[in-house]
Amino acid sequence: MTQRPRLTPDQLRSRWWFDNADHPGTTALCIERYLNYGVTLDELTSGKPIIGIAQSGSDLTPCNRHHIELVKRVKDGIRAAGGVPFEFPLHPIHENVRRPTAALDRNLAYLGLVEVLHGYPLDGVVLTTGCDKTTPACLMAAATVNIPAIVLSGGPMLNGWRGNERVGSGTIIWELRKRLAAGDIDYAEFLARASDSAPSVGHCNTMGTASTMNSMAEALGMSLPGSAMIPGPYKERAMVAYDTGERAVEMVWQDLRPLDILTREAFENAVVVCSALGGSSNAPIHVNAIARHAGVALDNDDWQRLGHRIPLLANVMPAGAYLGEEFHRAGGVPAVQHELLERGLLHGDVTGVDGRRLADSIAGRETQDEEVIRRFDNPLVEHAGFLNLKGNLFDSALMKTSVISPDFRRRFLENPDDPDAFEGRVVVFDGSEDYHARIDDPELGIDASTILIMRGAGPVGHPGGAEVVNMQPPEALIRQGIESLPCLGDGRQSGTSGSPSILNASPEAATGGPLALVQTGDRLRVDLGRCEVRLLVDDDEITQRRQRLDAQGGYPYPAHQTPWQEIQRTLIEPLDRGMTLRGADAYRDVARQ
Ligand code: FES
Ligand code: MG
Repeated sequence: MTQRPRLTPDQLRSRWWFDNADHPGTTALCIERYLNYGVTLDELTSGKPIIGIAQSGSDLTPCNRHHIELVKRVKDGIRAAGGVPFEFPLHPIHENVRRPTAALDRNLAYLGLVEVLHGYPLDGVVLTTGCDKTTPACLMAAATVNIPAIVLSGGPMLNGWRGNERVGSGTIIWELRKRLAAGDIDYAEFLARASDSAPSVGHCNTMGTASTMNSMAEALGMSLPGSAMIPGPYKERAMVAYDTGERAVEMVWQDLRPLDILTREAFENAVVVCSALGGSSNAPIHVNAIARHAGVALDNDDWQRLGHRIPLLANVMPAGAYLGEEFHRAGGVPAVQHELLERGLLHGDVTGVDGRRLADSIAGRETQDEEVIRRFDNPLVEHAGFLNLKGNLFDSALMKTSVISPDFRRRFLENPDDPDAFEGRVVVFDGSEDYHARIDDPELGIDASTILIMRGAGPVGHPGGAEVVNMQPPEALIRQGIESLPCLGDGRQSGTSGSPSILNASPEAATGGPLALVQTGDRLRVDLGRCEVRLLVDDDEITQRRQRLDAQGGYPYPAHQTPWQEIQRTLIEPLDRGMTLRGADAYRDVARQ
């Protein structure tokens, strides 16, 4: 990366607002109200960088709430480096609670943050992240606006425990739901055990979407090396908050901007790291979205090409056995990068927010615990990335291969005549309410070879896209020991789920995707060797079904509940294109416009 000349104080962006002799009236209006709580005239006009802090924590977003404390250290760092901190709120996003889904808020928070960063006197920004969508929303906005920006994750919660067993966020819920369905535990026990997984401040302690996306921020070079996975309550977390604030000021002087960091090579690095982490199936959606806003071509074929062959090195739930604390102590993201870089699988020349080459930043930071962060020669799974499946039902759908269990492999993928392929009768559900209402209906004839299909769960069908594709089998099958069936759908699934579903199918049923034409009783063939899924129904029959559906006005979806749901539905791109807003990626580097 070619370095730009250091800025001089009169080149600061904030000077237009705070020291603009051509518009004295405007300057006076901008300045006077900041003085009303004690900011001094000198702070605003003597050429100190003004550093925004996008505060994602609030009582509504408990995963990020300790940023309210952490930003005190960020501000200390900013002041020590000669900057002035201005904290402001990010639209709250809480993954578990937001109805109908937190995915509605990613693009809304993005839009809001773009307007703040563009419209206010900020020279740089610290982006506080944590819960799933807070991280991509911030990175998308940083790419669009392109003022110096640095990510500070809140870090995962401490490990959850029951006795001497680790209890992981989200992962335990999927487990307990099966125990409840099988009648092993009651509702009170369910709630008590679920709360074991959340012992402290911080985001999910598994390698769900939150840990994955904060690790992606670090792998992209947008946060300080080693910072993503420091547990929320650790003292190092507050220390790195200070360092992040300090660094934000220096980035302004160096004029080191997000689009200098978010290069094609950086995205390729992120894809490779994601596989080695056993990262969330939501990562391709969000990382593709960040790439679109950065003007970098990245699609699900890239994820398969670059990522599928990469081995699983992080022994962290849901793909592995440990949680965030062990992962951090074993060396965190730099230890994983170290292993991959040694094998020539990463670009070592990319520059991160620390202003250094990746290869220099992670030098000597190898794994400190080879059980938790594996050596390349001793992985948990040989090929851990995503397969990008295609066929006559969709253009793209992903399967996370790191979580294919030995049981699933034995039951579906070890037919000697036809390895890596299986066929089955499908049972179709239209959205998660339909699934819950009918899954235990014996009339459906679900057995150990059935393939469950979920549709109406994409970003238009269920505004924002529902995390519902990982469907559990009927209770009767679970009692017989069949704990999973192949699932396929146009929705997403939680990053904490250990299910190898075929998900994010695009285009979705609600926008005319052929998934709308499938009927219960059809047969489906899944061939992982060929990366193909085919509905085994002849073309004439498909054509007739299409005509009938068109005559009914297409696949139905529920009414909009809010203005934003309507706006987003009319503008949203499919999941394989990152569910960005159509046209938004045409805006780039807007800080200079
Ligand atoms: Fe917020 Fe998992 S629910 S991080
Ligand atoms: Mg989720």
